[in-house]
Amino acid sequence: MTATARRLGEVPAPATLDPAERMSVDELRALQLDRLRWTLRHAYDNVPFYRRSFDAAGVHPEDCRELSDLAKFPTTSKADLRDNYPFDLFAVPQDQVRRIHASSGTTGRPTVVGYTAKDIDTWATVMARSIRAAGGRPGHKVHNAYGYGLFTGGLGAHYGIEKLGATAIPVSGGMTPRQVQLIQDFRPEIIMLTPSYMLTIIDEFEKQGIDPRSSSLQVGIFGAEPWTEQMRAEIEQRMDMHAVDIYGLSEVMGPGVSQECVESKDGLHVWEDHFLPEVVDPLDGTPLRDGEEGELLFTSLTKEALPIIRYRTRDLTTLLPGTARPGMRRMQKITGRSDDMIILRGVNVFPTQIEEVVLRTHGLSPHFQLVLTTEGRMDALTVRAEARPDASAERRADAAAELVTAVKETVGVTVACEVVDPETLERSVGKLQRLKDLRQR
Ligand code: DLL
Repeated sequence: MTATARRLGEVPAPATLDPAERMSVDELRALQLDRLRWTLRHAYDNVPFYRRSFDAAGVHPEDCRELSDLAKFPTTSKADLRDNYPFDLFAVPQDQVRRIHASSGTTGRPTVVGYTAKDIDTWATVMARSIRAAGGRPGHKVHNAYGYGLFTGGLGAHYGIEKLGATAIPVSGGMTPRQVQLIQDFRPEIIMLTPSYMLTIIDEFEKQGIDPRSSSLQVGIFGAEPWTEQMRAEIEQRMDMHAVDIYGLSEVMGPGVSQECVESKDGLHVWEDHFLPEVVDPLDGTPLRDGEEGELLFTSLTKEALPIIRYRTRDLTTLLPGTARPGMRRMQKITGRSDDMIILRGVNVFPTQIEEVVLRTHGLSPHFQLVLTTEGRMDALTVRAEARPDASAERRADAAAELVTAVKETVGVTVACEVVDPETLERSVGKLQRLKDLRQR
């Protein structure tokens, strides 16, 4: 990838890989079993919560003789982290904890997570691996617009950039005009931020009269919120750069739990030497086979400060065999979180399903909001989508009608659509909240 060549379509040469990225499935399973047994023992011996929950379920760390035995162990939920607020799930003494992060959460107490020096190094290693899988190389400049602070995005990415041997530009989120200026002046090859904030920045380029396709950026590493293939196409086309997906969550580590490889763009390889994924039925927790969609669970395999056992992420996906990293399973792009699912007259609707339709509808921009209201005794959903600046009044009316028909055909529900003027909906500078719930309770 050179800075001058047209970037899309070009596949960067494979880079050097970590030994774990080259392991066969059998080698990896053996390593995972070793590490899993250590983790279960470490959690049981050092965290009263785990000791109580294993005892209550009648299981002991020694009962784990093969990987499938993990299914006998109880799951952990966000509520367990809240109940043990702030530090009661830590498995090491306070003086071993080098850093704390927290996720704000929409209600009540935040969830607090901690890291030892070794955990921070592991995190930087998997983040560096992720950036490299995305096409990042030592010597690249990386514009990091994930928020710095208690959120794991900014600092998590930051240490990975440095570990890779790249140059970190720690911009954090916000001050959008300045983001554009820094990209123009510092000429980074890579940008890391939420996909919704990328859209805000692309609009800002255009507002300043700069063609975003002329920027130095070659790859965008997007995560922290769900996004679709249609959004990838929109960003790649408007920026002329590769757009790849990064996934992670604070409770399991932060960003860098799984990453899409730029050469295949076919889902995210889970860094299975550190994180063991499972998929279960979201309703009753029954383990599902690879290839079946359900709720993603993770067990940490090397974490010291906050070992996490069978953590219920509420994220919905499917596990698939590895491709670009044959030993490591992939997870499909996240469909959504079970908490973000809207049940409209008995039909499950995910914001990503609406995103696909909005982006396919000629005349609509990728900026949209979902507004849930009460009509009579029923819930009603309105898609408020911004018109593209060049869309005529007639096109807007047609676009609204086309969207309603397409949602009915693909999702199976009737929604209303309101096409609003460009630049009228709230813009994201980080994680976007798409749903406005105005229902009367
Ligand atoms: O969002 C960590 C992160 C930062 C990931 C930067 C990627 C990039 P939390 O704030 O704890 O951590 O939120 C975790 O965000 O359970 C998912 O619901 C969602 N999420 C994260 N990455 C993706 C993604 C960070 N690539 C929660 N696709 C997770 C869809 C994602 N959802």
